[in-house]
Amino acid sequence: MPRPRITLKLATSLDGRIATATGESQWITGEAARAEVQKLRAAHDAVMVGAETVRQDNPSLLARTEPPPAKQPARVIVTTRLDIPPDAKMFGDIAAAPVIVFGMPRVSPARHAILEAVGARIEAVETGAGGVDVAAVLERLSALGFGSVLAEGGGRLAASLIEAGAVDRIEWFRAPLVLGGDGRPALADLSYDALANAPRFKRVALRELGPDLWESYERA
Ligand SMILES: NC(=O)c1ccc[n+]([C@@H]2O[C@H](COP(=O)([O-])OP(=O)(O)OC[C@H]3O[C@@H](n4cnc5c(N)ncnc54)[C@H](OP(=O)(O)O)[C@@H]3O)[C@@H](O)[C@H]2O)c1
Repeated sequence: MPRPRITLKLATSLDGRIATATGESQWITGEAARAEVQKLRAAHDAVMVGAETVRQDNPSLLARTEPPPAKQPARVIVTTRLDIPPDAKMFGDIAAAPVIVFGMPRVSPARHAILEAVGARIEAVETGAGGVDVAAVLERLSALGFGSVLAEGGGRLAASLIEAGAVDRIEWFRAPLVLGGDGRPALADLSYDALANAPRFKRVALRELGPDLWESYERA
């Protein structure tokens, strides 16, 4: 099945957490790392997040680079229940780049109508045990002409993409703090029963960004 090239971006503590137990994630990494994330956004056709990230962080996901990119990346959200606040920042700046919501409109026709009214494009997709069928989402994005997607989390979306075998590259920004086992994990459960089943990546770059490290990995 054709799909876009997927880059997974993670901004974590030393122990691989993307937020505190209460969901606070802004900001784990420093200014230099965050500036690189803006450039990564500008270099991709779309930026994708899970619905919980929208509900918790309310990001705009536009690329704030200087100068701004010639074309801003589209914003893509996955949500089974279309449970996205209509006053989310992304809809406030919808003129800058489209917002595409993948979910199940039949679950909530009322929310479907509300999100369409604020300018979202709703794409119907089936769900499985772990949420929307991400393989179907990626196939549809490819059909819509998206060649590259930056997945910015959270941990559940990241795990779904890994499970689907869809992550081609990882951009990992690691900050020198620890958040502990009750912090939100960079990747939700994957339930591998043997190391041999775990996907391996090859490190292709390692840089210092002020106090942080930036590691880049390609699928091995
Ligand atoms: N440090 C970082 O780089 C970074 C980046 C992003 C987020 N975060 C943090 O991560 C936390 C959110 O992460 P999270 O793991 O709880 O949630 P998430 O991955 O952002 O979103 C998960 C939600 O997405 C929807 N979903 C639908 N289909 C899915 C599928 N196939 N796979 C995964 N999700 C699917 C579900 O919501 P519905 O019920 O609506 O279907 C699910 O609850 C927040 O605290 C945020 O601050 C940190």
